[in-house]
Amino acid sequence: MTTTSYTGLQSVIWHDDKLDLLDQRLLPEEIVYLPLETSEDVWEAIRHLKVRGAPAIGIAAAYGVVLGSRSAESAEEWLTAVHKAAEYLATSRPTAVNLFWALDRMKARAEAIAAEGLTLEGTKQALITEAIAIQSEDEETNRMIGEHALSLFQDDIGVLTHCNAGGLATAKYGTALAPFYLAKERGMNIRVFADETRPVLQGARLTAFELHQAGIDVTLICDNMAGHVMSKGWVNAVIVGTDRVAANGDVANKIGTYSVAVLAKAHGIPFYVACPLSTIDLNTPTGAEIPIEERNAEEITEGFGKRTAPQGVKVYNPAFDITPNEYVTAIITEKGIIEAPFDVNLKKLFE
Ligand code: MRU
Repeated sequence: MTTTSYTGLQSVIWHDDKLDLLDQRLLPEEIVYLPLETSEDVWEAIRHLKVRGAPAIGIAAAYGVVLGSRSAESAEEWLTAVHKAAEYLATSRPTAVNLFWALDRMKARAEAIAAEGLTLEGTKQALITEAIAIQSEDEETNRMIGEHALSLFQDDIGVLTHCNAGGLATAKYGTALAPFYLAKERGMNIRVFADETRPVLQGARLTAFELHQAGIDVTLICDNMAGHVMSKGWVNAVIVGTDRVAANGDVANKIGTYSVAVLAKAHGIPFYVACPLSTIDLNTPTGAEIPIEERNAEEITEGFGKRTAPQGVKVYNPAFDITPNEYVTAIITEKGIIEAPFDVNLKKLFE
């Protein structure tokens, strides 16, 4: 994929030793970059979905560790601050494993840097380099995911996606949306159906926004229309991102993904999951052990800026659900396309 094919907004920007974050809550109406100065700012941005999407959360958290340790006045103080910031940032959201992956990588790198005997300034700079590497590797990873995913698609087909696993959720290109950018560049016509993705509308506000901005054929539908468009024969494949893949291939993704997978199976439509290796968690045996975040009732009762439910009504608002592995046709990673048996084949990826 050439860099010219993607002109989307960058969600996390590190420049001149400063962190700027695109406030994704305000999209598509306003494009506002927030300057973040402390690890507390980053924690708050992750918790409140200013930055969201598994890889982007990991990238922001890596810079959060940098911000949380940069005022240290000695090497010992710096290493303590790195660990403290990492532990604190790990409490921002529970489901996306990329957060913990990025924090573990920053802690491990900090330990190695501390042993190198650099100056304090050199030590701090080396950790910035690691955060930048996490971000730029994600861009390359997504290009490869896009290539593999596109090899599964023909010209002139319809593909449905849920939530936002695009450029906004990653360093660039996205995971599930990467093949659409690539297809456009190669003159292929893929018609994308984007579920609006209640309650926070990542599909409507973010996926429809970034694909439409790129000139990709995207049609926005309400979540409860997915079965209908499938029954019309308009959907040839489903592709989604994920926040965590368990060792047995069960997949956590935005609430509603499971329903889409069941509908896809009922219609004989392949259901693909696109993700980097950093989203695969072999330490979590099955989907049952993946922690599912529950969010505020107001996301449902006042989600459109207006009260849409009676005061005091009971609300259940899980942010993610688990799609059991039997609904997953393949998991598309930077290392290739993985099919069942997932427990065996996911393990092989790390050998
Ligand atoms: O609550 P969000 O917006 O962080 O949820 C995001 C998703 O569920 C994405 O599909 C997932 O993180 C993959 S992003 C490449």
